[in-house]
Amino acid sequence: KEYTVAILGATGAVGTRLIEQLEQSTIPVKKVKFLASKRSAGKELTFKGKPVIVEEATPEAFTGVDLVLASAGGGVSKKLLPEAVKRGAVCVDNTSAFRMEPEVPLVVPEVNEKALFSHRGIVSNPNCSTIQMMVALEPIRQKYGLDQIIVSTYQAASGAGQSALEQMLAEAQVYLNNEPMEGKVFPVKGDKKHYPLAFNLLPQIDVFEEDGYSHEEWKMIHETKKIMLDDMDAPELKVTATCVRVPVVIGHGESVYFTTKDQTVTPTDIKELLKDAPGVTLQDDPKNQVYPQPLMAEGKRDTFVGRIRADKENPGSFNMWVVSDNLLKGAAWNTVQIAERLVENDLVRVPEDPYLG
Ligand code: A2P
Repeated sequence: KEYTVAILGATGAVGTRLIEQLEQSTIPVKKVKFLASKRSAGKELTFKGKPVIVEEATPEAFTGVDLVLASAGGGVSKKLLPEAVKRGAVCVDNTSAFRMEPEVPLVVPEVNEKALFSHRGIVSNPNCSTIQMMVALEPIRQKYGLDQIIVSTYQAASGAGQSALEQMLAEAQVYLNNEPMEGKVFPVKGDKKHYPLAFNLLPQIDVFEEDGYSHEEWKMIHETKKIMLDDMDAPELKVTATCVRVPVVIGHGESVYFTTKDQTVTPTDIKELLKDAPGVTLQDDPKNQVYPQPLMAEGKRDTFVGRIRADKENPGSFNMWVVSDNLLKGAAWNTVQIAERLVENDLVRVPEDPYLG
């Protein structure tokens, strides 16, 4: 069987990686459709060396499509994915639009591939920071149990999209020219105030909740519980997060502190476990200054883990450093990987009671 695949948001930072990852994937592609806003309609992109003209994303554009890979923003997904499902397409959505819906599986294939079997037309791809943390922590949870996670993120500018990334590079130039820097996009395009990101750190990703957490932090907490325990509020795993935007182009870093149920575990045990874990590359040799870095993770599908060490005052507690390409495992690769698993398991079919938002 061959599939007609639509990429929604094909011209964006994630969209261009979705095209590349689909080119390299095992999915038998009959035809591709590249969809974006009206502004991009008519623009020429390529797929496996052949030209493809970008079309405006409308409900009718999904007619005849089997599989949709979406990354054009939450509002666009909310509006268009139910239309695609109605027309018989299975959608893998990289936005946060449907992640917390009970009918929508939230999947990191290394962790909860099984959830795909109950999909009703839409599957959600988790937040970029959540995904790489899941890849690193799930083998530990499986073997030793997990009581608590405390994470601080160092998130690259590209996570905010192509135009945000270009804005940060322009700010850097302005700073180097000794001109006054003015924030135009960060921390959040739609929020009231803007600050420069170049040569700065912004402890705000997404908007703030009533309780003082940013929505990105909220996502890391609740997505973790949904992916690991199939319950977005599961009390048995304590999770808290601080999310910070840093002036890095590509690649999110995370300082992850975690406590295992088994208090006899050693850093050597954890390293042994992660050495062979799916999707993980262990880079942990401090004597030789070997540790994960965004510049070296860029363009790779794996999640890189290092600096694994015990909190000597709290048995069963550890620190580690986790880095991954936020546009690949954090977005495009995880999305295409989900699509590959859907294809392998013959799940590219909309059931009789589809989820329509
Ligand atoms: P366009 O390039 O035509 O604006 P990024 O995450 O890098 O900001 O990319 C966002 C992606 O979503 C782009 O491909 C963008 O297309 C697309 N997009 C934005 N708004 C819409 C819309 N209303 N309908 C369809 N696609 C959209």
